[in-house]
Parts: sequence; structure tokens; C-alpha cells
Amino acid sequence: LPPDLFGPGRRNSHGVELGCRSVLAATLTDIAGHRREVTASTLIDGVAHAGATRTVVSPIDGSAIGRVVEADAATADAAVAAALKGFVAWDRTPASERSARLRRAADLLEARQAAFLALLQDEAGKTLDDGISEVREAVDFLRYYAGEAERLCGAGETLPGPTGESNVLRLRGRGVFVAISPWNFPLAIFLGQVSAALAAGNAVVAKPAEQTPLIAFEAVRLLHEAGVPASALHLVTGDGLIGARLVEAPKVAGVVFTGSTEVARIINRTLAGKDGPIVPLIAETGGINAMIVDATALPEQVSDDVVTSAFRSAGQRCSALRILFVQEDVADKMIEMIVGAADALKVGDPRDASVHVGPVIDAEAKAKLEAHIRALTGTARVHYAGTAPTRGTYVAPHVFELKQAADLKDEVFGPVLHVVRFKAGGIDGVLDAIAATGYGLTLGLHTRIDSLVEKVTERLPVGNVYVNRNIIGAVVGVQPFGGHGLSGTGPKAGGPHYLLRFASEQTVTINT
Ligand code: SER
Repeated sequence: LPPDLFGPGRRNSHGVELGCRSVLAATLTDIAGHRREVTASTLIDGVAHAGATRTVVSPIDGSAIGRVVEADAATADAAVAAALKGFVAWDRTPASERSARLRRAADLLEARQAAFLALLQDEAGKTLDDGISEVREAVDFLRYYAGEAERLCGAGETLPGPTGESNVLRLRGRGVFVAISPWNFPLAIFLGQVSAALAAGNAVVAKPAEQTPLIAFEAVRLLHEAGVPASALHLVTGDGLIGARLVEAPKVAGVVFTGSTEVARIINRTLAGKDGPIVPLIAETGGINAMIVDATALPEQVSDDVVTSAFRSAGQRCSALRILFVQEDVADKMIEMIVGAADALKVGDPRDASVHVGPVIDAEAKAKLEAHIRALTGTARVHYAGTAPTRGTYVAPHVFELKQAADLKDEVFGPVLHVVRFKAGGIDGVLDAIAATGYGLTLGLHTRIDSLVEKVTERLPVGNVYVNRNIIGAVVGVQPFGGHGLSGTGPKAGGPHYLLRFASEQTVTINT
């Protein structure tokens, strides 16, 4: 079993320990028994669409792990039309009943976690630790939004008014929500988006990433089995063009998207250019996430937290650390320790429980990362160049030192850490450099100076600030997650205001 290089298991919002060794030991054997080929397809009203299939390959070794039937434009339109019909009954279903079905889905997912872990490994290349945390997060989202629907979407709130008049404010579903989700959390973000939209009373057309249709297909079937009507939840499998078609559909009432800033902009423009109702977009995109380490920080803690933040999940989290600012006085020592900890990471087949860093998602991602690594190897100081298997889509962890933060222009979505030194008293320049990226998702700060925490949180419009810890793995209901600026439209997944963004508000005034 893996040493705890990524830290001891923390507890989730339900008090369940994540990634603890007994869970790992039990699941290892179960997972092996759940490997099988899945054929995914569009599901409209629960009916699987037939058609030509594409092979889905594993990033672990390029082997075929299933097939997917990809939708055409007419199928995407049919899914929206079916969802429009399904919305009416689902929105009228009492919130308590909607919640009960989401909770049933959470129970089913817990009971079947080994099957989902097998898929998370095979289709998304997740390590065991990552797979287990992801299943837990998905379960958390289902239960959390079920609770939120009961809290917010029940009979409504009676407001004070003049005698002889009753005023009630209540939340309703908006209509059909299109949910477009990424491959890096193919279960947790997929189910998070879908369950939030359903909890608020919307019908959903879900479009998973083209790299991970199998997990999405199994997750939708599980929700149907748990009692979410097939008329209220439809799945459309396909590429970005199919996602665009869904966004363009005339009667869509909302879009929730997690992915790149560039695609969020395209969706925004499409929605803005459509005739008919004004359609809101909930977008969670990327970040050039930074961590600041000053001379008062504890070196051992810093190296653990940096390695976890930059390299866990092969750096494929939108929360992951991309640029580390270290105070010059302690920089050499810190970098040496970080390199030492990075060198202890085992990169390889994530089905091996002793592996810490699995593959990146596909050959395209690998090629892009390798081009970045090649470019920096010629121009920046190389502190660490790890090794990785050549078969499959593995990328070796790297640590580079840059002269200035502005040299890093884009989000680099993989196991590459960039370090920049700053002088004592130069914190304002660091904050300016972070602000200049335009992103605002996660930020880490390692310091023992309380006033610095205040200064940083006041100056930087960043969604999630983590002080003296790593910057990944936001827990549902504990660290509501989402960013600002180029990082998204702001709503916090797993937070108490999230469901409001999926609902419309109605005030009913009755002259009694
Ligand atoms: N929510 C994830 C995290 O906090 C990132 O998508 O790591």
C-alpha cells in the first residue's frame, strides 16, 4: 500500500475518513472483480441510442476498455426536446421527494464503489487514493444537494407583509439545464453538476467529456435506478461540437460548465447571441494557481504541501499548484526539499497501489505538456526532471525556476511546477504578479505572520485561499469551491449558495 506521501486521510463532511488503508485493502480485491467492457451511448428517456461506435482507450496503456456511440446533432436536439417534457413533472415533484432519490443514488454509489473505482482507474487513469476521494466527493455532492433542496426548495418562505396579504417566496427549477463536464473529475464533477441542477427542480441534459463517457453512462444509469425519472435526466455522448449544439438549443434555460476558460467564453458568446430568454452560465474554469512561501514557513510542511498540490492527480486538477513564490532567504533549502519529495514519488500504472502519479488523460495532453517541458528545459533553470514510463500517456514530474511569474502565460495542466524567488519585503510585487494573471481559483500561503494572511486575502480576488496546508481537495460543505475572473463565474460548488444559481425565484402575493 502506498506510503502517505499525499498526507494522512482526512475526513469528509460526513465524518468518513478518505483514503485510509483499510478501505484501500478492501477495495483492491473488489476493484479487480469489477473490470468489464462498457458500451456507453446517449440515453434519451432512458433509451440507449444505437449507432456506430468509437473505441474508448485507457490512458494507462492505450488498451480498449469500452465503446461509445456518439450522438449527432439531431440526437442532441431530441434530448433537449425530451428534457423539456420531463421538466414539468420533475419540477412539480416535492423537493423532499427529489432529495430522497438523490440520497438513494448516494447509497447505491457507496455500495457499488468498487465498480466505479475500476472505471476511474481504467478510463481516467486515477490512482487508488484519487479514485477513492472522487467517489467520496460524488457521494458527498449527492447528499449535500439533497439536503440543500430540502432547506431551500420546499414550500417557500413566508415574508412579513401588511395585514390581509400573504407573501411567499419560493424557488423553482428554471427548466432544462445543459451540464457540460470535464474528464479530470468524471464522476464527482459530473454528478455534482447534475445533482445540483436536479435538486433545484430542473431537467438535465448532461454532456460528459469525450474522454470519459463510460463513467458518465454508468452514473446516469445509477441515478435512474435510484428513482430520478429518465424523463428528467438525459445523457448525450459526443465531442465539443455536440456540446455546442446543446448550448445553441433554443429552449435551454441554463448551462453549467466546467472546463477551459476559452470554451467558457465561447459558451457565453453563444448564449448571449441567442434569441429568446436570457440564459445564465455557471462556469468553473482553470487557474494559474500560486502558493507564497515566506521565511517563517515550516520547510517540511511546505515540501509536503507543494508536492501534493503540484503533482497529485498528475497535476490535472483545476485547483493544482502551478507557480510557487519562495522568499529568497529560504529558497535553496525549500527547493532542495521539494525536489527530494518529488523524487520519492512513484510514477506509473495507477492500478499498482504503490503508485502516486498516474498518466495524463490522453496523447494530446501529453504532447502539449512535453512541448512545454522542452521549451523550459532550454530557457529556464531545471531543478528536477523525473522519469515516467514510455508506454501509456505518462508525463514525468518537473520543477523549473523562472525569473519572473510573467514568463508563465498559460495554465499548464499537468505535473509541472514553476518556482519564482522573491526578496524579503517584496510581497507586494508577488501579489501584483498573481493579480496580473487574471485568474482567481486557488491560492496557498505558508507563513506564520497573521497580518500577511489578511493582506493577501484582502488584495486578491481568489475563490479558495488555503493557509499552511496544500491547496487541493476541497471538501463538499466544508470548502465551497469555485473562482473568479478568468477562473469562472463565481458560484461555489458544494456551498450553501450554489443551488440558488440553478433556480428561479417566485414571489406569490395573495390578498386574503
Ligand atoms: N475541487 C477540486 C479540488 O479542490 C478541483 O477540481 O481539488
